[in-house]
Amino acid sequence: MSKYKVVIAGSLMAPALERIQKFCDVKQWTKSGAIPQELLFDWLKDAEGLIATASIKVDKELLKHAPKLKVISQAAVGYDNIDIGACTDKSIPFGNTPGVLVDATADLAFSLLLCSARRIHEGWDFVRSGAWRSGSNIPFGIDLAGKTLGIVGMGQIGAAVAKRAGAFGMNVIYYNRNRRPDDEKIGATYQHFDTLLEEADCIIVLTPLSKETRGLFGREQFTKMKSTAYFINVSRGPVVDANALFDALKTGQIAYGALDVTDPEPIPIDHPLLTLPNILITPHIGSATTETRTAMAQLTVDNLLAGLEGKPLPACVNTNLIMEKQKG
Ligand code: GLV
Repeated sequence: MSKYKVVIAGSLMAPALERIQKFCDVKQWTKSGAIPQELLFDWLKDAEGLIATASIKVDKELLKHAPKLKVISQAAVGYDNIDIGACTDKSIPFGNTPGVLVDATADLAFSLLLCSARRIHEGWDFVRSGAWRSGSNIPFGIDLAGKTLGIVGMGQIGAAVAKRAGAFGMNVIYYNRNRRPDDEKIGATYQHFDTLLEEADCIIVLTPLSKETRGLFGREQFTKMKSTAYFINVSRGPVVDANALFDALKTGQIAYGALDVTDPEPIPIDHPLLTLPNILITPHIGSATTETRTAMAQLTVDNLLAGLEGKPLPACVNTNLIMEKQKG
């Protein structure tokens, strides 16, 4: 039996790769950095499956070079690098990895909140630099109990963060495009966006990146926040205007920032945000645990193999869109 032809645009955990290799001839980009576009387009000429990564854009142009593609799969829940309309036009299903990364990402979001609130990395610097021995003071953090957490973007991860916040005695408000009555049962109260900005002591951003959310947090929004506010972004870098965040943190318009995502990624080492004392940045590690990355890799393979065999993908973003298109 001839094997399917598959392109993998980046790294993939060994057990997942081995599963693919049983059924597929694989061309894989294993070097650091993004695969050069020319090479990718050349590899895609006869590819039936593609495992995409955040470093490539799947758009009309790419699909023109991939006439045999039956399925695209990516090990992430976010898919702002994928033009879903263009995939749907070609009836190509796109699979992502929702669900399996919820707890890991919620843990990371809440860790950033805790570490910021209790100034954990300043404490570590204080010890390591010898400042503790010289008796200088470390800045105080804040209590979380009794504070209001504002969650912007209430999906499964937002709900998991809300549960953690409830366990820490926080009051939770949220803003989302649609109200989420089930999450209100776990004690999260819906608020208009501007009210949330004004009332929250801490804000965690979890919204996907889209036309509507690009630049959602800019000067106007930081001005509305409390000067004591903690601002945490675990969604996508471009949801926040980095210059506006820099100014807000520098001038004390808000108290503290923590980011797991930046624009660009990796953030350049000479980026102004890195000069601030009141910021904590991690390298996009929301789902980076062994268990979660393993589950994501396996779901990515499940989606790929299902698509190659013409079966429904276990986690498909555009099933309904393709069905609607086929109905005409
Ligand atoms: C990570 O950022 C993801 O979208 O899964």
